[in-house]
Amino acid sequence: MTDRILIIDFGSQVTQLIARRLRELNVYCEIHPFQNVTDGFLAEYAPKAIILSGGPASVTDEGSPRPPYSIFETGIPVLGICYGQQVMMHMLGGQVESGHKTAEFGRAYVSPGAESLPLLEGWFSEGREQVWMSHGDHVSAIASGFEVYGTSPNAPFAITGDAARNFYAVQFHPEVHHTPNGRRIYENFIDLAGCKRDWTMGAYREEAIEKIREQVGDKKVICGLSGGVDSSVAAVLIHEAIGDQLTCVFVDHGLLRQGEAEEVVTMFRDHYNMQLIHADEQDLFLGALEGVSDPEEKRKTIGRLFIDVFQKHANEIDGAEFLAQGTLYPDVIESVSFSGGPSVTIKSHHNVGGLPEKMGLKLVEPLRELFKDEVRRLGVELGLPKHFIGRHPFPGPGLAIRCPGEITRDKLDILRQADAVYIDQIRRHGLYDEIWQAFVAILPVRTVGVMGDGRTYDYACALRAVTSVDGMTADYYPFSHEFLGETATRIINEVKGINRVTYDITSKPPGTIEWE
Ligand code: XMP
Repeated sequence: MTDRILIIDFGSQVTQLIARRLRELNVYCEIHPFQNVTDGFLAEYAPKAIILSGGPASVTDEGSPRPPYSIFETGIPVLGICYGQQVMMHMLGGQVESGHKTAEFGRAYVSPGAESLPLLEGWFSEGREQVWMSHGDHVSAIASGFEVYGTSPNAPFAITGDAARNFYAVQFHPEVHHTPNGRRIYENFIDLAGCKRDWTMGAYREEAIEKIREQVGDKKVICGLSGGVDSSVAAVLIHEAIGDQLTCVFVDHGLLRQGEAEEVVTMFRDHYNMQLIHADEQDLFLGALEGVSDPEEKRKTIGRLFIDVFQKHANEIDGAEFLAQGTLYPDVIESVSFSGGPSVTIKSHHNVGGLPEKMGLKLVEPLRELFKDEVRRLGVELGLPKHFIGRHPFPGPGLAIRCPGEITRDKLDILRQADAVYIDQIRRHGLYDEIWQAFVAILPVRTVGVMGDGRTYDYACALRAVTSVDGMTADYYPFSHEFLGETATRIINEVKGINRVTYDITSKPPGTIEWE
């Protein structure tokens, strides 16, 4: 079995980054909420080491989260971060206090203690090291057996450790970008745990293929292929495992980008030799959307039809027992919720949740353990073209939500052409990979223009380009004026039906990335 590290989550905003850092170092790890980590779980999971994450609670509060005490009795290394550090000290006999004065948020500098520690091997440069702090509470007395190995002006116990028992506790967050050398601490911790760094995409591919074969046996699998990175990688991986036992259903709702349907069909059917049903349902979708201009109604109409169409085609596949989905690790991690209560629906997202139960299908989810960039690496490993793997995200409802107001075939054609010119511009200028997502929205207004000697009365469009990490927040991309001018000229010259181009400089929040 691959060596693995267990991350016990106490609800920090940055717990996922701990997992990212370890995986970048080719170590397999999983995040589990503290409530699920019982003695039985630990015995079965058999981690090589444990990391206790940060979190918003205060250990001085009654009922605040704790890991089971047995984590300190198994003899494996434990690293506590922020709240993890405090909970560790508290449980091992130290003291934690709350207090305004010693709260620290943001950049701080840690200086070394008198002795060195293997965890800090090669870490301190120039006598001190920049770290990122974010804590209200602080440790006021360390547990017996612990020594101080680093201090900051507001955190006298910034780094402590009990080298004999392999327990380490840091007040700052080594996983964030603002602790520039944090990776070194994780590297050293991995070495102290004797963890092999052998978790590579090649190894993952082999293991995943074995698991799929074991799960599916000689049964059939259906996969909804959207042409997006996740479903494409899942399909290619499953195809490699079980060949023609897999059938993909590609629903063309008429809201795809220029050349997209052809590209998907050619690649998967001709290049990968997959059984692929190309469900050309453009008339059905566009017919149902006629006269619909409310964004939520559009989304719901598309979502409902999508499920109907998918189900219709899937039912034609005799004896299918499994449905493949490109679910990723961030969707699977159970988050530790302290606030409770439902959050507001901003947009109803397009998904096929609920379908497997309705159709009596079991799920195959070979990407459940991967982050998005790992899926991209797996895609490259499986031979998917780089430009395909690196494509910007594209929403399930497609161009419908980039065409505010009523959708017509004419508007969609104009939008597709303008979008193709814009993306071509971005690629030509070498900006594609710097931008998280870029697209054109066609606006529901016509404006007056003059071209040659004549008057025009055509649509206006908006260019959108954002930088983001996860789509939850975003900033507009700062194109140069030259780039914007050149792109506007090209769109107006090359796309009949558009005579005005604007650039959307709204960040998210308060805007959203898509227009609807
Ligand atoms: P918003 O517009 O909410 O979008 O800021 C955030 C990210 O989500 C994508 N998006 C969707 N993706 N189904 C999807 O698969 C949807 O219904 C959907 N709506 C928005 C959007 O493109 C952006 O990347």
